[in-house]
Amino acid sequence: MRPTLIKTEDGSHSLYVKELNEHYHSTHGAIQESKHVFINAGLKHVMFQNPSIISILEIGLGTGLNALLTFIESKQFSGNINYTALEAFPLAVDLATELNYPELLCDTGLNGMASLTSIFKGLHTCEWEKEITISEKLIFSKLKNTLQKVEFKNTYDLIYFDAFGPPVQPEMWTEELFAKLFAATKPNGCLVTYCAKGEVKRTLKKVGFIVETLEGPPGKREMIRGIKK
Ligand SMILES: C[S@@+](CC[C@H](N)C(=O)[O-])C[C@H]1O[C@@H](n2cnc3c(N)ncnc32)[C@H](O)[C@@H]1O
Repeated sequence: MRPTLIKTEDGSHSLYVKELNEHYHSTHGAIQESKHVFINAGLKHVMFQNPSIISILEIGLGTGLNALLTFIESKQFSGNINYTALEAFPLAVDLATELNYPELLCDTGLNGMASLTSIFKGLHTCEWEKEITISEKLIFSKLKNTLQKVEFKNTYDLIYFDAFGPPVQPEMWTEELFAKLFAATKPNGCLVTYCAKGEVKRTLKKVGFIVETLEGPPGKREMIRGIKK
């Protein structure tokens, strides 16, 4: 069934999935949450180490918000980013293009908005399993598969783990899948997620991550960053 478009408290859209009674983002603010968890605690943390290239794996492309924010951030970065997004149940393009992220995130007037809109649309309309050059800083590809079935050919500096929460999708938060993600993480790489449940921290530790509990985005006390030493 098609998710329903909703507006979160920071004015940015998210989607509500009736069958799961779950949203794609925090209802306190979708952009606010994504920036806090994935960009500030994840991407900026890795950028701080000054690498010439960062490879990112996103679990659950969904609306494409994290990819769009990463594109925006890549403009200030001296190196390059390779972004791979995994998605099992892609959104309909007409629904994805109703999302107000390009409008809210552009900072250079109408031209800026037009280019952000076309980049955002491109994330949703580009071919699966194929590398696309989004800009001179960002190469993007998306894999249409499940985390359970996919076999990663590469390893990653940073994993955006953005599955639906453990109460509604416990099969995404298992030791087996986190061990697979640990194996796909480069040494000194990390995984970030908005979830801070004790059970998730224990599972991440069990598979080998060093777990840091960080302050969460508004409306959530904590979030997790797992480091692979
Ligand atoms: C919480 S939403 C977040 C999506 C996205 N990061 C965003 O900002 O919109 C979780 C996403 O995981 C996808 N998903 C669900 N089960 C999956 C699976 N087994 N493997 C890969 N992706 C899955 C869903 O279709 C959905 O797009």
